[in-house]
Order: sequence, then C-alpha cells, then structure tokens
Amino acid sequence: MELKLALIGFGVVGQGLAKLLVDKKTQLKKKYGVTFKITAISDFAKGAILDPKGIDLKKALKAVDSRKSLETLKAKTKGLDAIKTIKQAEADVVVEATFTDLKTGQPAIKHVEQAFKSKAHVVTCNKGPVALAHKRLSNLAKKHGVSWRYEGTVMSGTPVISLAKEAMAGADITAVRGILNGTTNYMLCEMEKGADYKKVLKKAQKLGYAEADPTGDVEGFDAMGKVLILANTLMGVALKEKDVKRKGITKITSAMIKKAQKSGKRYKLIGEVKKTKGGKIEASVKPTLVPATSFLGSITGPRNAISFDTDTLGEVSITGPGAGKIETGFSLLSDLLELAWGLSQKK
Ligand code: HSE
Repeated sequence: MELKLALIGFGVVGQGLAKLLVDKKTQLKKKYGVTFKITAISDFAKGAILDPKGIDLKKALKAVDSRKSLETLKAKTKGLDAIKTIKQAEADVVVEATFTDLKTGQPAIKHVEQAFKSKAHVVTCNKGPVALAHKRLSNLAKKHGVSWRYEGTVMSGTPVISLAKEAMAGADITAVRGILNGTTNYMLCEMEKGADYKKVLKKAQKLGYAEADPTGDVEGFDAMGKVLILANTLMGVALKEKDVKRKGITKITSAMIKKAQKSGKRYKLIGEVKKTKGGKIEASVKPTLVPATSFLGSITGPRNAISFDTDTLGEVSITGPGAGKIETGFSLLSDLLELAWGLSQKK
C-alpha cells in the first residue's frame, strides 16, 4: 500500500519523522508492505514545496541541514501556505507537526480542520488540537469519513494513547497518573543532588529539555495539556483548562527536597486524572511526595512514566522517553503504520 503524505511543519520533529522514513524505507516496505510518498512539505520558516510526483526526503533534509530553504529544491509548486498546501496536496494523510500553542491551539487546529475537509486523515504530535478541541475535531473527522491519531502528544513515541485505547480496549480505566514532563523531572532529580533551582533550570535549557520559555514546563502548563489529552481521549469527557487544578514546581525549595529525602520520599510533578465514586472526573497537576522506591518515585532524569488503574488488570505502568527528535518522530511513524494497517483491512 502507498500512502501519500503532506508534512505540515518541518522542524525538529518533522525532520525526525523524515529521517526515520529515509532510514527505514526498505524495512517498512518489506515488513509492513507500506511505502510513503511525500507530496508536500510546508514550514513557515523553511519554505513550502508541493509535487504530486513525490519529494525526495533525503534532499529535503540536506537542504534544511545546510540552512537552505526547501524552495531551493525542484518542485511543481512552491511557496504555498499550510492551508493551501493541505488543499492542493491530495494527500491521504496530513502530518501536523507545527509548534504547540496550548492557549489557542492555533494554527494547528485550522490545519487539522482543513485536512479533514480535504478528506485526509491526520497524524499529529501537536498537543494543542487534542487538548483543546478533541471532541469537535473527532466529530468533524467522522463527518468527512476520515480519522486522526495523536500518540506523540503524551510521552512522545512511548505508547500511551494506543496502549490505553487499543491494547487495553475493554478495560475500564479508573485513574491515570504520571510524570508527564521531562524538564521538571530532570530538575527535581538534579536538585536532590544539591544543585539549586536556578542553576538546574539553566542546565535543563542548555540540554534542550526545557522550552525556550520554560514557564510552560515549570508552571505545569505542559503537563496540564497532557492531562487534558488523557482525560478527553481516554475518559470520554471534554475538560477544559479551568477544570484542571494546576501547580508547578517553582515553589519547591532545596530544603523541602532534603527533608523529603530524609523520610525516603521524592517530589515528582504528577499529572493525574481519576474517576470519583460519583462518576465525576477530577484532574490535577501538582508536585507530589511519593516513596522513593515506588514506580513513579524511581523515574529519574528527563524520562516520563505513567500508571493506569484498571478494573481488569489492576495497575499497568510504562516508562520511556517523553521528548526528542527521533522519539517524537517515531510516534508519527507508528501512527502512520497503524493507520495504513487499518486502511488495508477495509479493502
Ligand atoms: N518540554 C517538554 C518536556 C517536551 O520537558 O517534557 C515534551 O512535551
């Protein structure tokens, strides 16, 4: 099966996917019988190219590596904005990998809407559309006979959404709690080694974990976005930002960390969604003291982890990377392969 893709956003993650598609091309064809043809790439900073005959991803990666515009490559059409690209690309799947804006969800929401209207499926790692408009966009997809997948929105390529929705289909998930932000977990671990808050924040930024504006990480907004995604995609609700009690790590001092260590505990920024006895869904993000020997207590550095409470299996937990070029690129690849598999079953 051949799937035609339009890549909207060609930053770190878009390039991560492109690299995987180049490196694994032979394997993907042999093992899964799938080939991908890129009919368009559009990036607001790197340029836009569209060609129904297909774009050479190796050349596209080489161009951006040498800081050249994508428009220096041969293509039928150049310079279209994202919406026009989606309208004209005739793609089977739009890959939305532009930047996340958790306040408005834009411009990603508009891209997803246009993709559905153009009868293209969507795979995305962009938290905005899923956190803020999951229900509405899912209905729109249904109306146009297409679907969307968003594994990479929580814990990058580590399976969380597909684990809960597909592998554990039939189980009732009663609570989800996890370390959903790598930057803050790294910072809290470094503070345990004696470094102070300001220093570890600088280090996290230098290592590329923290966002350019780290407010989203340290104030818990990034984790809040992921909590909204988990609640709204796994528990059938439509929670909004105001429904999530949010507290970041900015008030955690070295003295508090030392005191916790003495009693065998550690501070973790825990995002949680749970069903109350009355059937209500409660959601929060807050620094929480956990036993150092517990599953979540044992997660160090920028790693992420999540535990599901279920009626059938009890607690099910997974840990893995929560960010990264290849790791998040992989989430898009695994979504594309699942989509291809589903489409091949319909034929
Ligand atoms: N800044 C985020 C983190 C990136 O530290 O986890 C992934 O959303």
